[in-house]
Amino acid sequence: MAPPMPHAKSRGKEKGVAASVGDKDSATISCLLSPQTKLRIMATAPSFLFALLAVCIAISTAAAMATAPTNTTGFVSCLTVHIPPGIVYTQASDSYPSVLDFSIKNLRFVTPATPTPLVIIKATKASHVQAAVRCGVAHGVRVRPRSGGHDYEGLSYRSIDAACPFSVVDLAALRAIRVDVKRKSAWVDSGATLGELYYGIANKSARLGFPGGIGPTVGIGGHFSGGGFGLMMRKHGLAADHVVDAVVVDAEGRLLDRAGMGEDHFWAIRGGGGGSFGIVVSWKLQLVRVPATVTVFTVHRPRNRSASDLLTKWQHVAPALPRDVILRVVVQNQEAQFESLYLGRRTGIVATMARMFPELGVMREDCIEMSWIESVLYFAFYGTGKPAALLLARGTKPDRYFKAKSDFVHQPIPRHVWESTWSWFLKDGAGLLILDPYGGQMGRVAPSATPFPHRRALYNVQYYGFWWDNGTEASEKHMGWIRDMHQEMEPYVSKNPRGAYVNYRDLDLGVNDDYCGNGAENGYKKARAWGEPYFKANFERLAAVKAMVDPRDFFRNEQGIPPLR
Ligand SMILES: Cc1cc2nc3c(=O)[nH]c(=O)nc-3n(C[C@H](O)[C@H](O)[C@H](O)COP(=O)(O)OP(=O)(O)OC[C@H]3O[C@@H](n4cnc5c(N)ncnc54)[C@H](O)[C@@H]3O)c2cc1C
Ligand SMILES: *[C@@H]1O[C@H](CO)[C@@H](O)[C@H](O)[C@H]1NC(C)=O
Ligand SMILES: *[C@@H]1O[C@H](CO)[C@@H](O)[C@H](O)[C@H]1NC(C)=O
Ligand SMILES: *[C@@H]1O[C@H](CO)[C@@H](O)[C@H](O)[C@H]1NC(C)=O
Repeated sequence: MAPPMPHAKSRGKEKGVAASVGDKDSATISCLLSPQTKLRIMATAPSFLFALLAVCIAISTAAAMATAPTNTTGFVSCLTVHIPPGIVYTQASDSYPSVLDFSIKNLRFVTPATPTPLVIIKATKASHVQAAVRCGVAHGVRVRPRSGGHDYEGLSYRSIDAACPFSVVDLAALRAIRVDVKRKSAWVDSGATLGELYYGIANKSARLGFPGGIGPTVGIGGHFSGGGFGLMMRKHGLAADHVVDAVVVDAEGRLLDRAGMGEDHFWAIRGGGGGSFGIVVSWKLQLVRVPATVTVFTVHRPRNRSASDLLTKWQHVAPALPRDVILRVVVQNQEAQFESLYLGRRTGIVATMARMFPELGVMREDCIEMSWIESVLYFAFYGTGKPAALLLARGTKPDRYFKAKSDFVHQPIPRHVWESTWSWFLKDGAGLLILDPYGGQMGRVAPSATPFPHRRALYNVQYYGFWWDNGTEASEKHMGWIRDMHQEMEPYVSKNPRGAYVNYRDLDLGVNDDYCGNGAENGYKKARAWGEPYFKANFERLAAVKAMVDPRDFFRNEQGIPPLR
């Protein structure tokens, strides 16, 4: 792949980008290094000092002007003062394409037309992240963080507008995991994956686990930023509910922990969506206890084996099951696939199913006992006997095109609707639905406790379409199916606003007006179109926190939280 150079220098939006660092009071941006570092440089390498002075002069000049142009050259030379050259990749670098592609998961954003970053900084230390932010602010180049690159719309490494110059701080190499078994806690860096985290915990104790998402290659940084739910959520809630401290690089390039950032900022980073509230470098987690033995099952119920009846009843049963059980459903082709994780032994789940959902007909033989980490492998790769080391594989090339949308259901959907959905799964271009039930611990936490507001829903629906054909016809067919199916379900799902999950990012909901420029006057008002589906009443608080911690809206993207003015 040969990414084209965005025409940052010749497009109208360029002025606006620079304006964000060109306001009068950005003269207060201090020069980049701490006094200690300056002294050290002065003592050891006078030539660095000149570079430093040049940067300082550039900053002061930019700050003094009303609109400093986006200065990519200045940005890059600023970076080279503070960051080892081997980890800064410009579009001219030979390894730029492989570094860019490393964490791309969706072929939709690997086309020659996809606008790509001017520069990728592959940080190996927090100070590199700080330097990238400070240089970006000083030279009018926005910085997007990328942890695992799973963003459904690719916002961690692409813009939807070729005239929008930006850089990427890639955190894939910042991925240490330190588990403290005695305190049942862990520090995990944003660039680690869920698989690495689960493996790292299980490696230290067979009786500890963590309630995050299912996909092992998903990045910690983006996942926690959007809430994060998985198979233990009915017992333990969201991944973000278990974050007890964090280290973030803010819009001034400062490194702040929970005490330093304050409770409002700390609230916002645990579910307010990635890319708006700084770059989180590390997270401190409260781990959870898991039993020595858990039980899993997967049963398939085709349409002609009462799948409509089962789906109808499932809506009442699944959210009301004991917290130790999750029973989710994947609906695809002409069948419903029921998948379950039970935090206990086989006899327990067989008895619970017989009592609460006998129609499903789960037999003793369907149930498999295993350790918690084996269950993680079971759901990640569908099957038993897989080596735990599989969890450490970050994946190679993206293997598919995909598009997803989401909904929350508060009232059971009538049987006749389920019956009529089967015809949808016979259409050319059909995708699948994933139904994740809430209840249990999810229902016990206040919707304002974290930015994730959908705790009272019966269940989450994900519409997921995927394909391999690179033609536009295929893409239109599959994207069309997802959008039409979503439209079809409107009468039966949450309303005013119709909810959506920020970690299943969906640009159909709307994008910011001036997402790469100067910020629109009425940015907040327009952003409500997507902000309220994701965050409901919490959206206003998020925008208020944004105004406090990043008033210039440096951390901005197509769906970044705008400051409340
Ligand atoms: C195969 C697959 C399986 C999934 N399974 C689940 C699941 O079971 N449960 C669930 O809840 N979700 C799931 N998701 C969705 C996933 O949680 C989100 O896509 C998540 O945002 C991905 O995080 P990332 O770091 O990989 O993505 P990235 O693309 O790196 O980042 C996503 C967003 O967060 C920002 N961001 C990244 N790192 C940081 C950081 N360190 N600080 C601040 N902002 C940052 C990015 O700029 C971007 O806006 C899945 C996604 C995929 C593709
Ligand atoms: C933990 O990881 C180390 C290093 O990869 C490995 O040698 C060891 O067998 C693992 N232990 C457990 C209990 O998984
Ligand atoms: C259900 O339909 C499938 C084909 O879709 C068929 O193979 C199967 O025998 C049918 N089962 C029953 C119980 O009708
Ligand atoms: C699609 O893939 C084929 C075969 O690999 C290739 O020849 C073609 O140029 C591709 N088309 C597009 C639009 O990328």
